[in-house]
Amino acid sequence: MNFISWREDYSVKNEVIDNQHKKLFALINDLYEAFVTKSDNLGVERIINELSDYTENHFKEEEKLFAFYNYAEAEEHIKEHKIFINTIQEITEKYKENPKSFSTRITSFLQKWLINHILETDKKYISMFPE
Ligand SMILES: [Fe+2]
Repeated sequence: MNFISWREDYSVKNEVIDNQHKKLFALINDLYEAFVTKSDNLGVERIINELSDYTENHFKEEEKLFAFYNYAEAEEHIKEHKIFINTIQEITEKYKENPKSFSTRITSFLQKWLINHILETDKKYISMFPE
């Protein structure tokens, strides 16, 4: 199911990071699918947990690159990561308390946040990579 699709213009000119972004897109698609098909609630919880873990690791990888390349806008960027990690944790907790609180509003939020973050914030660090 393609609720959210990666496109070439989302590329940050780094294959490792692009592949991690593609994996995040796939997890958001899986989450959407598990929710709308209501196959089983455990599916939704498992994917939320995976999305949360994968996102944290992905952000760490980006932040390692910022340190390595001494990226000037790292601080602002890392702030965005922290806010998003908190939001995902809140979504996870709310889901565990009450699975009925979950809706496509949440998958839409995740979709919009990720695309917007890639286009507006991640793309800025392309300049830190050597030519
Ligand atoms: Fe980022």
